[in-house]
Amino acid sequence: MNFLKNIKGCPFGSHRVIEPSGALPQSAKKIDNTMEIYSNEILINVQTLNVDSASFTQIKESCNNDIKCIENTILSIVEERGKLQNPVTGSGGMLIGTIEEIGSDLNTDLKIGDKIATLVSLSLTPLKIEKILNINLETDQVDIIGKAILFESGIYAKLPDDIPEKLALAVLDVAGAPAQVNKLVKEGMTVAIIGGGGKSGLLCAYQAMKNVGKNGKVIVIEYSKENAERIKKLGLAHDVIIADATKPIEVYQKFIEVNKGNLCDVTINNVNVPATEMASILITKDDGIIYFFSMATSFTRAALGAEGVGKDVTMIIGNGYTKGHAELSLNILRESPEIRKIFEEKYC
Ligand SMILES: NC(=O)c1ccc[n+]([C@@H]2O[C@H](COP(=O)([O-])OP(=O)(O)OC[C@H]3O[C@@H](n4cnc5c(N)ncnc54)[C@H](OP(=O)(O)O)[C@@H]3O)[C@@H](O)[C@H]2O)c1
Repeated sequence: MNFLKNIKGCPFGSHRVIEPSGALPQSAKKIDNTMEIYSNEILINVQTLNVDSASFTQIKESCNNDIKCIENTILSIVEERGKLQNPVTGSGGMLIGTIEEIGSDLNTDLKIGDKIATLVSLSLTPLKIEKILNINLETDQVDIIGKAILFESGIYAKLPDDIPEKLALAVLDVAGAPAQVNKLVKEGMTVAIIGGGGKSGLLCAYQAMKNVGKNGKVIVIEYSKENAERIKKLGLAHDVIIADATKPIEVYQKFIEVNKGNLCDVTINNVNVPATEMASILITKDDGIIYFFSMATSFTRAALGAEGVGKDVTMIIGNGYTKGHAELSLNILRESPEIRKIFEEKYC
């Protein structure tokens, strides 16, 4: 008998925080992952976790790509914290699953059996894993038997009929990035996209090309030759630079060479490794904007680094949410058969 289902919890989930008291679930060290819902929560039968790329990369590296070690790491994080929040990167990911129970105090369009993707981070989502069924090293996706809780304030998207589930999950995980590009990038601007060959990078490059129009310019900075070639072939940038974004001077020199001595108006950072803040700062002009979508971004490195080189730039923390982000990002797949094909090859 679940007595909790007659009690209304905090809309933001603070009632499940165990430690430290007074915190909200994202910053909490440990949350209560009892899978009995309060009257304003939703219980989800989880199918797949899409682990955040910075987190998955860190776990993979610390495990030398060993599947058993990755499995144990994921299980022990969830056991310890009640949620899948990487203690090193602090980040989480997203999930897809089926609605199993809906609290009586919730006013929602969802019904039992609906398939959804949560649009709030796994770093704040109560999660219980019974078993890990499969870990895909290429896609950062983990199939599990398990359950999760969505708080009253938690946003979600019903999975669309026209896009395969795992593909939709991958796109929804990074939906905030192209939607923010749409807000920040205006006609005629020069835009740099660092890590433009990855999942969020491709979507951002597409959106940036659309927004800059015929008088603007999109320059992608990408690590691997292969991804750089793909961007060029797809016409997702006016120029592509192959460089290591952890080497700021190398990136800066290549950038001004390609851009005829000029810096850019907006930089979008989509990289999944640490220490790329200074490359972003050096290539952005004074009064320009940098959107740090990367979860490997350090506030200290960015703030003190910009000050250290006398750069008056506006630096935006990559809020994963902006209004309409799910539709905008899924629509890119509907508009661009080329991008859809790349995602399908990886996720289907
Ligand atoms: N703010 C949010 O709410 C939010 C939500 C989801 C994800 N994220 C974060 O966003 C970032 C991107 O996620 P994603 O899923 O798009 O990742 P992804 O698909 O793994 O792409 C990462 C990209 O970074 C490139 N890269 C790696 N090291 C590089 C280097 N030293 N120099 C230049 N490029 C480098 C990779 O290039 P190669 O493939 O050529 O190595 C790849 O193109 C991650 O940090 C992720 O954690 C943030």
